Amino acid sequence: MSDEKARQRLLGGKLIRCLYQLIHSSRIYQDNNQLIIDGVSQCVATLVDLSREGEVTIQVWRGRFYVNGEKLLYQRDTIAITNELAEYFIQRQIGGLRFLVTTRDDLQGNFMAFVRLIDESQKHDDPPAWLDYQAQAKGIHWVEVSRKLEEKPADLEPHLKEKALDAYFHALNMVKEVADKASRGIAGVRKARRLAQTIVDLIHEDSTIMLALATIRDYDDYTYTHSVNVAMLASCLGRYVGMSQVSLEHLTVCGLFHDLGKVGIPKDILHKEGKLNDEEWNTMRRHPLIGVRQIIHLRAPQTLRSRIILGPFEHHLNPDMTGYPRTHFMKGVSLMGKILRIVDVYEALTSERVYRPRAFTPDEALRRMWSEGGRSFDVPLLKCFIAMMGIYPIGTVVELQSRELGMVMEYPDESRKDRPLIVLLKKDGSGGYTRGEEVNLASPDVEGASPRKNIVKGIHASTLGIQPSQILLQDVRAA
Ligand SMILES: [Fe+2]
Ligand SMILES: [Fe+2]
Repeated sequence: MSDEKARQRLLGGKLIRCLYQLIHSSRIYQDNNQLIIDGVSQCVATLVDLSREGEVTIQVWRGRFYVNGEKLLYQRDTIAITNELAEYFIQRQIGGLRFLVTTRDDLQGNFMAFVRLIDESQKHDDPPAWLDYQAQAKGIHWVEVSRKLEEKPADLEPHLKEKALDAYFHALNMVKEVADKASRGIAGVRKARRLAQTIVDLIHEDSTIMLALATIRDYDDYTYTHSVNVAMLASCLGRYVGMSQVSLEHLTVCGLFHDLGKVGIPKDILHKEGKLNDEEWNTMRRHPLIGVRQIIHLRAPQTLRSRIILGPFEHHLNPDMTGYPRTHFMKGVSLMGKILRIVDVYEALTSERVYRPRAFTPDEALRRMWSEGGRSFDVPLLKCFIAMMGIYPIGTVVELQSRELGMVMEYPDESRKDRPLIVLLKKDGSGGYTRGEEVNLASPDVEGASPRKNIVKGIHASTLGIQPSQILLQDVRAA
């Protein structure tokens, strides 16, 4: 993330906190109280610091704040404040505020009058219109009020989804290219490393979109989409457990290359319908070792190469070193190997394969992995993975108590991983499904209103003929 973006987000968070405190204080104290005077000064100073070409915008979309178009990241200590203030805006049907920041004095003079108007607007029929009118009448010309947004405005996070989608398909092509050239010893890692940097940057910006992309499935090109999905999921999990930027980049490259050795496995074994016999299994089990040989022959700086070998070598090893390849020189599996092991199994279980036409639903896959526990996975890391994905991971098709069908889009409240935001699935008239209304199950209105409030179960997307990624990315593809 650029320094400027990080600074804007920091100041944005500060503005939300100042505004929240000022609104609360305004209900107790008069304008001449020192707490109010200091609160106004802080708000105005933060607005001045945030101003870009004389403007600052605050917008609320799906219960999240965007300041100058940047989504504010949730921080554990301020989640409650942020949610409460977002709800405060929503109750007043306010979608956003646009401050025209000219001079500090201009705002300081009647800032408190505006704060009191916002608070009072709830008593009126059309709060935004009333607020706008009253502000003008009181000579407050430095702010414009907009209504609750019906659609995500184009200026929020410009191009983030497009950038993410672009990185995904570049990564896909790159993996194919490397797989093709690796056996001839003419592949390099420069492109992979650049892409890994982009992917890690995007995950820092918004991991939700990367988790949505990791639901892309391609039956015919399975090994390649699988590799990119594993890279995305690994990188998200690595970030979740606090790995450094450089380690995340290496982990992403490991994910992209973890099954590179499959180019050395005969196609009839790789795509065999039905169970593999012992001999075929033995061949299949060679792919981590073949992969390591391929990586050794990649054109890459020695230090980088040494950091991307271990993960692919270890990705089928269990914590007790059973699994494959058999090794006697290692005492344990590295962090990257453990992460790859978890996300690799999850991706494989949730994908349809020739030998298993119906995949596990994401929630089933997580339950199954949990039941295997320490035999196959590092348990603390598996716990982190489940906490990160949520009980119903992004892209899960769910049935609600109301019998309506929906798809999990994101978890707007990181502390409520049982209450996702879902999009209802409505029939598109030609036998398929399309996106309907969005319902935030974490919102107090929905939580109190039966029968939509609860998810009953996860549903196999394939039984409805749905590809989760198509629904999740519908708006990007249509753009
Ligand atoms: Fe593998
Ligand atoms: Fe794999």
